[in-house]
Formats: sequence, C-alpha cells, structure tokens
Amino acid sequence: MEHVTLHTGHQMPMVGFGTWQITGDQCVTCVRQALDLGYRLIDTARMYENEVEVGKALKASGVDREEIFLTTKVFQPDNSYAGTRRSIDQSLLRLDTDYIDLFLIHEPYDEDRDMVRAMKEALEAGKIRSLGISNYNKELYARFVAECGLVPAVNQVECHVFHQQGALKAAMGETVMQAWSPLTCGQRPVVTDPILTKIGEKYGKTAAQIALKALVQQGIPVVPKTATFSRMQENLDLFDFTLSSEDLAVIQSMDTGKTLFGWY
Ligand SMILES: NC(=O)c1ccc[n+]([C@@H]2O[C@H](COP(=O)([O-])OP(=O)(O)OC[C@H]3O[C@@H](n4cnc5c(N)ncnc54)[C@H](OP(=O)(O)O)[C@@H]3O)[C@@H](O)[C@H]2O)c1
Repeated sequence: MEHVTLHTGHQMPMVGFGTWQITGDQCVTCVRQALDLGYRLIDTARMYENEVEVGKALKASGVDREEIFLTTKVFQPDNSYAGTRRSIDQSLLRLDTDYIDLFLIHEPYDEDRDMVRAMKEALEAGKIRSLGISNYNKELYARFVAECGLVPAVNQVECHVFHQQGALKAAMGETVMQAWSPLTCGQRPVVTDPILTKIGEKYGKTAAQIALKALVQQGIPVVPKTATFSRMQENLDLFDFTLSSEDLAVIQSMDTGKTLFGWY
C-alpha cells in the first residue's frame, strides 16, 4: 500500500474502503473482509448510519487500531459549534474508538468557522488527528482557508476519470484532494469503458483498476466502495504496475470537467 503524508504529519493510505450505502450486518461483514484483505483506511460518516457497524468490524478484525486510518464526517443539523462538538463525541462512541484519524465537514456550511472551533478543540484533546473538509469547490476552499484560519489536511470531493478536478487540486497547495465515487457510483459505465478496458489489457488489469490507478498515480487517494468480495481485492490490487505517460495522457483526455452528480 502506498501512503500520502498529510501536512499534519500523519500517513494516509492511497486506497481506502468506502462504506456509503452499506449498512447493518452487511457493513460489519464487508468492513471486516476489507480489513482482512489489507485495507487500512475506512471511510464512514455520521450520515451513512453505519458507524456502529464499522466500529464492530474494527474490533472484530483484531487489527491494531494504530494501523487503521478511520475517517468520519459531520453533517447537518450539526453544522454549529455545539452540534460539531456533539457529533464528534457521538461518532467516537458509535465507532467505539478513542480517536478519529480524519474528521471532515461533510459539505460546505456557512457555519464552518464555528464548526472548526469545535474541531480544533477536539484535535487538542486528542479526539481527532487531522481536520478536513468535503465538497468544497475552489472558491469555497479559498473562503474556508481565509475565514476559518485552517488549511484542511484533506478535501474529499467527487473525482473520477470523467471529472478529474485538476484545477481544484492545483489550487489547494498542502491540502490533499481525496476522490469520492472514484468509479462514478454507477453514474457512467466506467468499469466497462472501452478505452479503459483496452488500456487494461496491456497491464493485465480491469477497467476499474485502470480508472483507480489513473487517480492514484496522479497523487489522488481514492475510497472505492464495493459490497462484493472479489471487487474489494480488485480495487486494492493497484500497486504492481505503472501507467505509461501515453496511457495516462489518454485517460486525462477523458476528463469532461463536469460533475456527474450535481450535488454541489
Ligand atoms: N464526502 C462525500 O460527500 C461522499 C460522497 C459520495 C461518496 N463518498 C465516499 O466515497 C465512497 C465511494 O463512492 P461511492 O460509493 O459513491 O461510489 P464508487 O466507489 O465510485 O462506486 C461504487 C459502485 O461501484 C461498484 N464497484 C466497485 N468496485 C467495482 C469493480 N471493481 N468493478 C465493478 N463495479 C465495482 C459497486 O458495486 P458493488 O458494491 O455491488 O460491488 C458500487 O455499485 C463512498 O462509499 C463513501 O465512503 C463520499
């Protein structure tokens, strides 16, 4: 597994396991399988309603907590100082852990300055190790840094071969851009894409692996989600090959510069 060093000094795996839309017993099973396979980053959120199950899987895995990088996020209606304080403590309880590796503001809020105050207190108290944001575009990112007095360690945003977010990445300096929906969450058939499939044939890899590798190789960590065991293995198996600059250029030309979700 390759890692990126955040400006907080902490190491974050380049491939993590996304858990949106996996709940209940299936979540315990999938996170446990992912940890057994070697995933060491688990991406959850209060909004996913699976923190308890993620916590159970972490405990059941027997993997040392210090080896795992755990991300969770605060969402409305906790977009206030008191709400964020409460959200952090509740996430810690649900996840059954003493600390969160990366705590993100899930989406842009006008109240983010107050939320950051609560997050900084939690950082000082050892409840959180790195602070970040999610779904902030270039303008909102600049406003956040200026108004909140914090350079976030991570900005987790929509990013995949069809929306590679190069301008945002370039504008964020020390902040690491992490990709959510790196396989487009089924919005566009990336895993059967003929260009990616053809490139994959050269390396003995699937289109999904090429789509993920193209991001990772450009320094963009990814958190693909799958509830299918074989795909968990597939999505982790990215580190025994390197895309040529020609192939990377072809993939870069697939960028439409447009969101597939239109949420933010
Ligand atoms: N911060 C945010 O606002 C935000 C927003 C969205 C997502 N996220 C995070 O990012 C994670 C990933 O995003 P996502 O879940 O939206 O979508 P995704 O990872 O892009 O795609 C997941 C879909 O792709 C399928 N899949 C996964 N690996 C595959 C493979 N190797 N071959 C073929 N199909 C494959 C999965 O199917 P099966 O499960 O059926 O195998 C699932 O339908 C989330 O789980 C969440 O942790 C964050």
